Amino acid sequence: MKEQNIYILGIESSCDDTAASVIHNGKILSNVVATQKIHEEFGGVVPELASRAHQQNIVPVVHQALKKANITKEQLHAVAFTRGPGLMGSLLVGTSFAKSLAYGLNIPLIDVNHMQAHILAHFIDEEGFDKPPFPFLAMTISGGHTQIVRVDSYFDMTVIGETIDDAVGEAFDKSGKILGLGYPAGPEIDKRAKLGNPKAFKFTKPKVDGLNFSFSGFKTAVLYFIQREVKANPNFIEENLNDICASIQYTIIGILIDKLKLATKETGISHIAIGGGVSANSGIRQALKDGEQKFGWTTYVPKFEFTTDNAAMIAIVGYLKFLEEDFAEQDVVASARLKI
Ligand code: KG4
Ligand code: ZN
Repeated sequence: MKEQNIYILGIESSCDDTAASVIHNGKILSNVVATQKIHEEFGGVVPELASRAHQQNIVPVVHQALKKANITKEQLHAVAFTRGPGLMGSLLVGTSFAKSLAYGLNIPLIDVNHMQAHILAHFIDEEGFDKPPFPFLAMTISGGHTQIVRVDSYFDMTVIGETIDDAVGEAFDKSGKILGLGYPAGPEIDKRAKLGNPKAFKFTKPKVDGLNFSFSGFKTAVLYFIQREVKANPNFIEENLNDICASIQYTIIGILIDKLKLATKETGISHIAIGGGVSANSGIRQALKDGEQKFGWTTYVPKFEFTTDNAAMIAIVGYLKFLEEDFAEQDVVASARLKI
């Protein structure tokens, strides 16, 4: 079925962002995100506070998304929502809201896998951004995820590598915490890394077989290194902060690029699409660009607002599933560990 005038509302509430977006065919009309500031003082997301904040935010966020798109809820053809993976309490808010709205409007309900959505965000129509051709490799890197996925078509995806413990964003954030930086520390480490020497300090890369990742040992290595140096010189962090940040970032980028090299070698696929908040990192972007020259890659980075947690990516999946009439029933349940 190919209809030409489809409006779909997307709702995302899997972690600490309450988001809603309206898509008209493949084009985003509104993309509203309420980021929960409450977690900053705790240095990480507090699940109970997240779900409470979603409850407060969801009605105004959806209202704003419809208003910005300049449509009424009666014009919607379907409601798409994040079913998982994510924090259960957070997912329940978006799931219940989407179910009631679709039921009240008597329109289809569409369940969306958050990890698929990060990947399919590349298919939002946006001037100046190319869509990757199938098959391609998608690397999703954020505070909650680290995966390499082989994508053969919109809904034919295979996870070929993922973290066995922490996500790469956590490696940035937890290292930043050790250094006394605010949460999330990724952007600050990125900024300081530009002013420092990436080879000033050496951190060993974790040894993990195949295409999987591990970052918990890295964080511990940073902790022990800092403890040791601070013991010898209490001002070590202040005196070397830019170099430490540059060295941490350099090591993390090395880990990601090594695995991408292996993935392209094993699959023979050289189109690489990245997504997730960590893809904002300027060093990673540069390393991917360098990979185009060095390894013959073609790389795809979506518009930033579609790469951190957002509802536009849920809306585009909603649209693609709508075209296939792939709808959910009212008894669909949220799933914290939903797999691709
Ligand atoms: O996708 P996102 O907004 O939310 C989820 O975690 O799902 O990603 C947030 C993560 C945080 O860990 C943050 O530190 C990291 O993305 N991040 C960065 C940069 N900007 C955001 N990490 C490194 N460099 C950046 N420029
Ligand atoms: Zn995410």
